[in-house]
Parts: sequence; structure tokens; C-alpha cells
Amino acid sequence: MRKPIVAGNWKMNITSAEAVQLVEELKPLVADVDGVDIVLCPPFSSLEATCKAIRDSNLLLGAQDMFWEESGAYTGEVSARMLLTSGCRYVILGHSERRAYFGETNQTVNKKLNAALGAGLVPIVCVGERQQEREAGITQKIIQDHVTGAFEGISAEQVSGVVIAYEPVWAIGTGLTATPGQAQEVHAFIRQILTGLYNSNWAQQVRIQYGGSIKPENAAVLFGQPDIDGGLVGGASLAAGSFAKIVKGV
Ligand code: 13P
Repeated sequence: MRKPIVAGNWKMNITSAEAVQLVEELKPLVADVDGVDIVLCPPFSSLEATCKAIRDSNLLLGAQDMFWEESGAYTGEVSARMLLTSGCRYVILGHSERRAYFGETNQTVNKKLNAALGAGLVPIVCVGERQQEREAGITQKIIQDHVTGAFEGISAEQVSGVVIAYEPVWAIGTGLTATPGQAQEVHAFIRQILTGLYNSNWAQQVRIQYGGSIKPENAAVLFGQPDIDGGLVGGASLAAGSFAKIVKGV
């Protein structure tokens, strides 16, 4: 049985003080939730404050990105160990916004994935097609490239600990959620790719989240699909009430 995972990607929102407030509002709303990994991914500057605020709760901490080197002259970057020592257990890698605005490629995602696993972080690897790619009928090719590129050289033992987030770019922040059928189809395809790269036993262990305009109204039906193991939530994770409802939709 795969344990569901719902993560809130706060993106470039929420100061430290706002993070503490949001966590304090969220904690009682999800205190009775059991059997779901609930992860908050603040910007780097709010990690420490969020870490303190979630102490003694069922909330977990993740970061939105990292660099693959351990240390050195890489202005503006943060290493896996820095994230671990700031209380992170998870790290999002290859988000489509990083691919679109910051030059992230399948190769850089692969380097980061290796470094994150080596350091003991749980990576959340994002994959997903853009609108024009879906319209051109090449969704499967894009997903295949994203998955095989990211997992190049990653062993079967390592892959079972990785989370994949399927986030169709056309659904992110647009209000256009993929239908449960559309999402399930791609999730099943991702599991098929993993079965080919490793085997079905390993592929069955990988948790695959859906992301893209998840709301309290659509979460439960998406999470009810056989290959959808939770969600990566953007906008709706910025309000405690809506995020809690989504977590309870698992
Ligand atoms: P929205 O939920 O705002 O569409 O964002 C999804 C996302 O990009 C999460 O990483």
C-alpha cells in the first residue's frame, strides 16, 4: 500500500511571520489526519520559521528546489545538506516554473535527484506537458523524456523512495484541472515507464501525485483514482481551510 502524500507548494509567497500564522491555523484542522504525509514547502527564507512552527505536529517540511553541489562558490544556491539541517525531509525538483523561467532541464533534474537521494532527502520530481504539447498529441513523449531523463542512473532501491508529481503545465494556476480520467491515464503511463525501467514491484511502490488547480471541490475524485497517490497543491495551499479540506480528500 502506498501512503498518500499531499504537499503544499507555497512558491514565492509567505514571509516567515505569515508562515507561522498559516501553520498555527492549519495544525488543529489536520490534527486528526492519520496515514497521510502532509508536507509544507515554503520559500527558503521561511524554512526555519516553518520548521519551528510544525514541531510536535503531523506536518512535514520540504523545500522547492536545491543545487546538486555540496558547497562552494554558487551564489544564490542552497545544498541538500543545508535543507536537511533546516529541518527538510522533502525537496521539489524540476517544477515546470523552474523549467520555464530558470533553465531547468531533464539533465539538471537528474543531477539534483542524485544529490538529493545521496543526502537522504525525499525528492518530489515534477513532470508534465505544456498545452501545445498535449494539443500536438505528444504528451506521452514528453512524460517519457521527463521520467527517463530524471531517473538516468538511479537504482531500483533508490527509485522506490522517490515521489513523482504529474503536473500538466496547462493546469497550473489556470483553474483548468485535468479530469480524473486524463490524470489517471498519465499516472498509469508513468507507472508503466517505471515498470519498463525497473520492474512492476518497484514501480508499484512509487507515489505519484497530481498537481494543477487542485481545489477542495475536485481533490477527492482525483485522489480516488487508482494511480493517484495524493497531490501537489499551489494556490489552494496558501489558505489553511482549503488546504485542510484537500488533505482530507485523500
Ligand atoms: P496550482 O495548484 O496553483 O495550480 O499550482 C500547482 C503547482 O504548480 C504545485 O506545484
